[in-house]
Parts: sequence; C-alpha cells; structure tokens
Amino acid sequence: MKYIWCIKFFVFIFAHVDASNSDSCQSYGISSANLREVIIGKCTFFQENINHDVFCEEGFRNCTQIWESFKNSFVHQPTCNVSLDKMTEYISLTNHSIPPNKNMFWENVYPFVSRFTNQGQRYVSVSDTLTGYIGDAVQWCSDDNSTTGMTSSGQTCPGFETTPDCYQSAQRAFWIAVSKHFAQSASGEVFILLNSSVTPIFSLDTYFAVYELPHIANNLVTKATVLLITENPEESGSKCEDSSLTKLSQKLKEKQIQYFCIENRRDVVMTFCLDNPEAKVCDMLLDTTSGAEIVNMSNVNMFIAWVGLVIFKLLSKTD
Ligand SMILES: *[C@@H]1O[C@H](CO)[C@@H](O)[C@H](O)[C@H]1NC(C)=O
Ligand SMILES: *[C@@H]1O[C@H](CO)[C@@H](O)[C@H](O)[C@H]1NC(C)=O
Ligand SMILES: *[C@@H]1O[C@H](CO)[C@@H](O)[C@H](O)[C@H]1NC(C)=O
Ligand SMILES: *[C@@H]1O[C@H](CO)[C@@H](O)[C@H](O)[C@H]1NC(C)=O
Ligand SMILES: *[C@@H]1O[C@H](CO)[C@@H](O)[C@H](O)[C@H]1NC(C)=O
Ligand SMILES: *[C@@H]1O[C@H](CO)[C@@H](O)[C@H](O)[C@H]1NC(C)=O
Repeated sequence: MKYIWCIKFFVFIFAHVDASNSDSCQSYGISSANLREVIIGKCTFFQENINHDVFCEEGFRNCTQIWESFKNSFVHQPTCNVSLDKMTEYISLTNHSIPPNKNMFWENVYPFVSRFTNQGQRYVSVSDTLTGYIGDAVQWCSDDNSTTGMTSSGQTCPGFETTPDCYQSAQRAFWIAVSKHFAQSASGEVFILLNSSVTPIFSLDTYFAVYELPHIANNLVTKATVLLITENPEESGSKCEDSSLTKLSQKLKEKQIQYFCIENRRDVVMTFCLDNPEAKVCDMLLDTTSGAEIVNMSNVNMFIAWVGLVIFKLLSKTD
C-alpha cells in the first residue's frame, strides 16, 4: 500500500505545479476556447449519442440555431448583471420531455452525482438534459464592451455563484434559468441527492432551495425522496433526522408532496464505493443483511462491482 501513497504524493505535487502554469493549460474560471464549436458539438453529441431516443421521438434540434439563441441570451450585457429575460428562446429550443420519476436534484455531490445518474440512464440531473448539458463544464461570460459582446477565450470569467463583486454572471443567469425549467419539467417522484458532510445539509441559499424547490409543480410531483450520503456513518443514528432536513420536509408538505429520506441507500453507496473503496461507509456492503435497501442483483454490473468490493475489502483487511 505504501507505494500508492508515494504516487499520490507525487501526483499531488505535480498537479499543484501544473495549476500555477495557467498560460498553457486551460483551467477553471477561464473562458473556453472555440465556444461556438463547443456548444454546437455538445448539442449534436447529446442528441446523437447520449439521449438519442427522446429526439427520435420528439424531433432532432438544429444546433446552429441553438448556438445563435444561446449567444443572443448573453451578448452585450454587463459582465456581472446578466438578465434571465433573453433565455426563453434557448429554453424552448432545447426543451424535451423527461420521463416521470427520474428527476434528480442535488447539492454538494459534484462530480459524484454525474456518475450516479449515469448520463440520464439511472436518473436525470439538470446536466443530463440537453438544456443543461450544453453549458455543463463550459465557461463563458458576457461583455458589453467587446465587439463580439462576449469575453474572448482565455480571459477570466466570474463563476456561477454570486460574489460581492459579481451579482449575476452569464453562467449564473444560465444555471438559474435552466434549473427553474428543469424543476418545472419534473413529474411523479423526484429525488434529491444530498451530502451529510456539509452543514447545513439543506441550505436555504442554494440553487436547489431558491431556483428549483419553488418551481416543482405540486400537481405533477407527488413524492420527494432525499437520498443522503453519509461517508462516515455513526452508530448514534441517521442524519435523516437533521433539523435542516425537517425544514425541507415542511416545505414539501406545504406543497402537498410526500417526503421521504433514505440514508446510504445501497445503490448510492455501491456507486460511491466503486471510486472510494476505502471510505468507512463501504463497510456496510460487506454485510448483506444490512438494513439498507437491497438493490436488484439481476443488474450484472452492480453484482460484479459488489463482488469486486468484497474482495478488495477482504484483501485490505489482511494487509
Ligand atoms: C439551422 O439553423 C440555421 C440558423 O438559424 C439555419 O441557417 C439553417 O438553415 C438551419 N438548418 C436546418 C437544416 O434547418
Ligand atoms: C442590473 O440591470 C438592471 C437593468 O437591466 C438594473 O435595473 C439594475 O440596477 C442593475 N443592477 C446592478 C447591480 O447593476
Ligand atoms: C417543453 O415540452 C413539454 C412537452 O414535452 C411541454 O409540455 C412544455 O410546455 C415545454 N416547455 C417549454 C418551456 O417550452
Ligand atoms: C461531501 O462533502 C465533502 C465536504 O465538502 C466532500 O469532501 C465529499 O467529496 C462530498 N461527497 C460527495 C459524495 O460528493
Ligand atoms: C467599458 O467601457 C467603458 C467606457 O469605454 C469603461 O468605462 C468600462 O470600464 C468598460 N467596462 C469593462 C467591463 O471593460
Ligand atoms: C429485477 O430486475 C429484473 C429485470 O431488470 C426484473 O425482471 C425482476 O422482476 C426484478 N426483481 C425484483 C425482485 O425486483
């Protein structure tokens, strides 16, 4: 096991040297190069490869038109005061149906949530819709001075959270509009993946609390289940009893939506433990009689993953 730590240490050192050398490596906060090609490419790839079936049924979208509309939502606006008003066309051009019982809301579990939703095959997060996918992991910003109306590639962009210096960037406006639309599209049972390592577990100033929860339609959504991941579970009880989650349950009950909370549901833990086999929560997978919900083992991949984990755990115990 020791040489693994050596490798981790050197990767850590090199990663940090790399990050300071931002001249050659694009990094977080720097506007993406070739934005037009990236947007058209993501739009095409999503329809052809990620969620082909829904567009076969509802019609393929014109990605050139979607790019024009995306760009027109942001150009020639103040970098830190971008309006949501111009996003309506982009939203309607990229809108597609989401099957009932699939919407996955989340906070504080990125990038894990994307592994868990599996590109919309298991659940659908906002970034598993065409509307969100196009902007996911892309950086851009508005500029009311430049001739293009957008910041050119390589320049610094404010992120998607409000800061004292920047009230509403292009990316923030995008995620607000897209999140509202995503919430409005939900039906049946919805899921909310939360992380109990963060305090409070449910916070009133998050995208979920501010832009999604109020837009979940209570005539379409009947049930909401919090899937809580607790990496270091304690004997003393489930984090589902947390007072911030009580507030969430009240807000849902006011909307006549049934509320449930499941800590460390077995399929969540299995997926998490594929990449984090040493986490304490993974011990529960050794216990096949554990109280957590049993997942249907006819899913061959899950079964193989489970066998792998058991072997890993047994080997590391004898280490
Ligand atoms: C797609 O949209 C662009 C821009 O609006 C337009 O020029 C082009 O003709 C459209 N393509 C098709 C196949 O409709
Ligand atoms: C943002 O723009 C709106 C008009 O679009 C204006 O009313 C508002 O005062 C601006 N806010 C800031 C913080 O500049
Ligand atoms: C999105 O499409 C659905 C049908 O799939 C429709 O009911 C809804 O009104 C559309 N929403 C927008 C904003 O275009
Ligand atoms: C939960 O939050 C902690 C603290 O921010 C973070 O280290 C951890 O990676 C998160 N867990 C998941 C599954 O994202
Ligand atoms: C835009 O141009 C005006 C006048 O030319 C200048 O005062 C302002 O600082 C510029 N804003 C940005 C964001 O560069
Ligand atoms: C397990 O899944 C298979 C196919 O996905 C299904 O036929 C079977 O009924 C499921 N079993 C249980 C116990 O849910």
